[in-house]
Amino acid sequence: MTTHATPPASPAALSRRDFLSLGLGALGLIGLLQVGAMTLQFLGPRRADGEFGGLVSAGPAESFPAGSVTEFPDGRFFLVRLDDGGFLAVYRRCTHLGCAVSWQAAEARFSCPCHGSHFDQAGAVQNPPAPRALDTFPIAISDGVVVVDTAAPQQRDRFSPDQLVYA
Ligand code: FES
Repeated sequence: MTTHATPPASPAALSRRDFLSLGLGALGLIGLLQVGAMTLQFLGPRRADGEFGGLVSAGPAESFPAGSVTEFPDGRFFLVRLDDGGFLAVYRRCTHLGCAVSWQAAEARFSCPCHGSHFDQAGAVQNPPAPRALDTFPIAISDGVVVVDTAAPQQRDRFSPDQLVYA
């Protein structure tokens, strides 16, 4: 009776096994790196200053005349300066279903293209279906410069003069 010993693995088989092990290890490492990168992204600041989600420096208060509306597309807001000199940073997101409103200077109103809501210069509802005034963002005026915090939208039912910020 003859016995057959299992032949040693060929160099080619070993290198295939090694290759598979290395490949699986590399895939695992890539997966770990991706999870780490996503975790850092989640824990870090969501947006840089100067764009929506961060602090946006709008410029010197004196550069905005009374009665003006200035759009800041990157910040997704309009800086409104009412006739009495008070500032409001009005979020462009319609309070009905979230479409972007635009300022229509000829009619002196914000207008929503989706379902026809209108808002006055202070963002108060003139025409439904929007259920409440446009949201605003906090404003700080420091050394004469208007800074808007677009990370913290503020809901309001209607406009009230105590929402205005003065230089
Ligand atoms: S989303 Fe603006 S009126 Fe509907």
